[in-house]
Amino acid sequence: MAAIGVILASVREVRRGEAFAKWLLELAKSHTNLEAELVDLREWPLPAYTYGVLPTGAEKLYVDGSLQSRWAECIRGFDGFIVVTPEYNRGYPGQLKHALDALYQAWNYKPVAWLSYGGAAGGSRASSQLAQVAVELKMVPMREEVCINLIGLAVDAQGYPTAEFYTKKAQLLLTELSYWTQVLKSGREHHPR
Ligand SMILES: Cc1cc2nc3c(=O)[nH]c(=O)nc-3n(C[C@H](O)[C@H](O)[C@H](O)COP(=O)(O)O)c2cc1C
Repeated sequence: MAAIGVILASVREVRRGEAFAKWLLELAKSHTNLEAELVDLREWPLPAYTYGVLPTGAEKLYVDGSLQSRWAECIRGFDGFIVVTPEYNRGYPGQLKHALDALYQAWNYKPVAWLSYGGAAGGSRASSQLAQVAVELKMVPMREEVCINLIGLAVDAQGYPTAEFYTKKAQLLLTELSYWTQVLKSGREHHPR
């Protein structure tokens, strides 16, 4: 069984992303080897770079009980991630960058996939940038992604996309993430760095 953190990057009062994250959590239930859990960045108001430490030592230096140490503990508990991110001014939300930059080892050697959303580009400019960030964090970014075009998007009462196209994309993403999660989990256990 692999633990997947579905990171909801939008913290806006009214946000489209919450429905997309919940939709993914529902779809993940059919993947019996995945246990997906919501990680809502609203609950993790991590400060900007107030902790002047090198990335490699960051987690160790946090005082027990601090928000950062609890964030590290939370992220350490997952084997892989799906980041649900909007596109803001052709990038991803600042809160997400703080959350990513706050840790280093907790992200290392774990797979990450994206569900992005926005206008005509479906948030893909945000997810493309995130793939570069993931490489620096020694994560393994997935090829498979879900890019939702909000313009004229058909959704049900829960805000879940109704088009079969998106469901297929999401299932593919989950299948691929499941594979990489197992491979990398085994790698971390058998070849610890
Ligand atoms: C500050 C801001 C900047 C935005 N910039 C873009 C953009 O560059 N490209 C795009 O496709 N959509 C852009 N949008 C539209 C958002 O993708 C859309 O509002 C989306 O619903 C935001 O996600 P959220 O509702 O989960 O916060 C922007 C929205 C905001 C609030």
